[in-house]
Amino acid sequence: MKIGILTSGGDCPGLNAVIRGAVLKGIKVHGQEFVGFRDGWRGVVEGDIMELPRHSVRGISKQGGTILGTSRTNPFDNGGGPEKIKENLDRLGIDAVIAIGGEGTLAAAKRLTDAGLKIVGVPKTVDNDLDATDYTFGFDTAVQIATEAIDRLRTTGESHHRCMIAEVMGRNVGWIALHAGMASGAHAILIPEQQVSIEQIAEWVTEAHERGRAPLVVVAEGFMPGHMEAPHSERGLDTFGRPRLGGIGQQLEPELERRTGLETRATVLGHIQRGGVPSAFDRVLATRLGMAAIDAVVDRRWGTMVSLNGTDVEHVDFDHALGQIKSVPQHRYDEAAILFG
Ligand code: F6P
Repeated sequence: MKIGILTSGGDCPGLNAVIRGAVLKGIKVHGQEFVGFRDGWRGVVEGDIMELPRHSVRGISKQGGTILGTSRTNPFDNGGGPEKIKENLDRLGIDAVIAIGGEGTLAAAKRLTDAGLKIVGVPKTVDNDLDATDYTFGFDTAVQIATEAIDRLRTTGESHHRCMIAEVMGRNVGWIALHAGMASGAHAILIPEQQVSIEQIAEWVTEAHERGRAPLVVVAEGFMPGHMEAPHSERGLDTFGRPRLGGIGQQLEPELERRTGLETRATVLGHIQRGGVPSAFDRVLATRLGMAAIDAVVDRRWGTMVSLNGTDVEHVDFDHALGQIKSVPQHRYDEAAILFG
């Protein structure tokens, strides 16, 4: 059996560990053959592949990025679609596809599976917003990177008696902000799920300052203060037509400075959170998910993705995974909010 693997959407530490886990298990246990599609769905639509023999995955689980390349190509655009893809797979002798990606990738995989293609999914997102899996690989690494960066912002904030704002990723959900904010002892954590007024944020900042602390605010890029109706976006749309976010920290900076009288500095951590070596947790999770994807292929579970349930890896239908995003629940925010101010 010949299996094609693709990585699609924003990259994420741990992608290479998934590829390695799948290729090694497939070759060692089932004698399968592997190819990689270059740059996500683009490689599938254009039939652009690379061989993935055993030696090609040697030592890659600790490497950031993806050896296959990625893109935000929609497989239904530019002459794609199920007929074209089926024709390519038949011509290349590929029997099944493992698609590693986030919501957009898995939604496309579902449409293609509904049209008769043999695809299994592996969930991927640093934002950790995919439902039906407890954690996605890459999230732990992003939180670690954000926490280290915020710890550094904290010491310079303390030296200058300033308020520091750290903006982290999190388009629809605030998991990175919540975890990095809790880990670094933030005085306010602002997430897309919770609209908070500027007055309230200024109050938390002032309280922390009055106790002699250098106030620290951690904000997710998708956060909307009380007066805003959509997340801050000034960079147009991405290739999926979604607004490119980023910059809410800089929007808050003068507002908080004016209301609190405290010198304030904002830093956007941006793509640093997605780069570099994956944490040990993410390497293990990604390797296990890659191996479980092979089980899904062998069992012909088309239209399913592998998922983490507690410490067990399971298989769930795309439908179940795509129904809704995994938001920060109210009780997790309330728990963190006890420590604000
Ligand atoms: O979906 C993951 C994510 O990192 C979001 O948090 C962020 O909004 C987006 O990707 C950035 O995407 P790009 O790499 O296209 O700038």
